[in-house]
Amino acid sequence: MNTTNVAPATSDGSATSSAALGTDTEFEEIVGSSEPLRTVLWQVTKVAPMDSTVLITGETGTGKELIARAIHAASPRRSCPFVSVNCVPIPQSLIAAELFGDERGAFTEALQPRQGGFEMAAGGTLLLDEVGELPVETQIALLRVLQERGFERVGGATPIRPNVRVVAATNRDLEAAIAEGAFRSDLYYRLAVFPIEIPPLRARKEDIRPLAEVFVKRFADRAGKTFRAIDEKTIELLEARPWPGNVRELQNVIERSVILCDSDVFSIGDGPRPSCAPLRLVPSPAPGCPREASPANPTLEDVQREAILRALQSTDWTVGGAKGAAVILGVKRTTLQARMRKLGIIPRPSIAHRMARNHPDCRPNGTDEEARERFS
Ligand SMILES: Nc1ncnc2c1ncn2[C@@H]1O[C@H](COP(=O)(O)OP(=O)(O)OP(=O)(O)O)[C@@H](O)[C@H]1O
Ligand SMILES: [Mg+2]
Repeated sequence: MNTTNVAPATSDGSATSSAALGTDTEFEEIVGSSEPLRTVLWQVTKVAPMDSTVLITGETGTGKELIARAIHAASPRRSCPFVSVNCVPIPQSLIAAELFGDERGAFTEALQPRQGGFEMAAGGTLLLDEVGELPVETQIALLRVLQERGFERVGGATPIRPNVRVVAATNRDLEAAIAEGAFRSDLYYRLAVFPIEIPPLRARKEDIRPLAEVFVKRFADRAGKTFRAIDEKTIELLEARPWPGNVRELQNVIERSVILCDSDVFSIGDGPRPSCAPLRLVPSPAPGCPREASPANPTLEDVQREAILRALQSTDWTVGGAKGAAVILGVKRTTLQARMRKLGIIPRPSIAHRMARNHPDCRPNGTDEEARERFS
């Protein structure tokens, strides 16, 4: 059997990117030494010391947040906070408060003023994650902050001037969004002062082997297992896959395979079908059975999960279409689906479609298009 040795988690100079750039410690978490990744890291080293706004684009799971953190860590702001605000809070009415703070305490039950991302990141870096999903009204408010470098909290009047370096990330094609009228071109040009595009994993297959080595080592350590090597056939299989979920998907496949593999040579076997069977990270309650009790201090993710589950339950798990949960939540179907994946909410067939599957004579009302929207 052909095998490759399992490398240590940090590079000794052979597998990871940091050595490739001759910056041994700077990017030690970022694995890979392909030409496209080296170009990205070269851009990071150039822009990090500046205060320029950076726009990071790339498919889901390519490492946009990792690169944003690397920019912060390599910048003079590294000793101040790095704050990430997801621009798709659900419900979307929360976004202004998330960014600019709130004098009225709209998010928590406690009626206390709350700082937003711009204030929390004072002196440091603010990542505007999934910026392409920002509602148009908030785009205008954000543009104002970037132009005038000032804002007021929601419900407040005191002007605040943040000292923050802004990095934005999105997997959306912003130029297409501008053409559709969904994203303001003036905001785009403010954000894209220094654009960095992270190529998908399938366009840098040389990174797959070092990534696999690091992930196998990491998850084996966590599982208390030791592999003396990785089966070479596994590397070939991994390099042949298209990886629509990019590095995150590769990581998940390896984590799952480490759990399943009982040999001392790591292999993924023929079994795992990552794109079809994502790991279920968070148990979701049965339809009609909301979460037992809300925690006293819900996180933003708790609030989002609760809102999404309620909307899905009220639509009998229909996501898209005129009567779907996405309409109730005021977001696009694709945005809701992406958020569900992130929160580990597994889509379910509706009651009507479960019945239809069990009893072919009992077809639910509705067109095939509507049926597809339920399951998509
Ligand atoms: N080059 C890399 N080396 C090591 N780990 C990586 C690399 N690229 C991505 N990862 C890991 O893959 C996962 C996904 O990365 P990240 O969250 O930065 O992606 P993203 O582009 O922001 O995804 P999304 O668009 O879905 O938010 C993280 O666990 C990250 O640490
Ligand atoms: Mg991200």
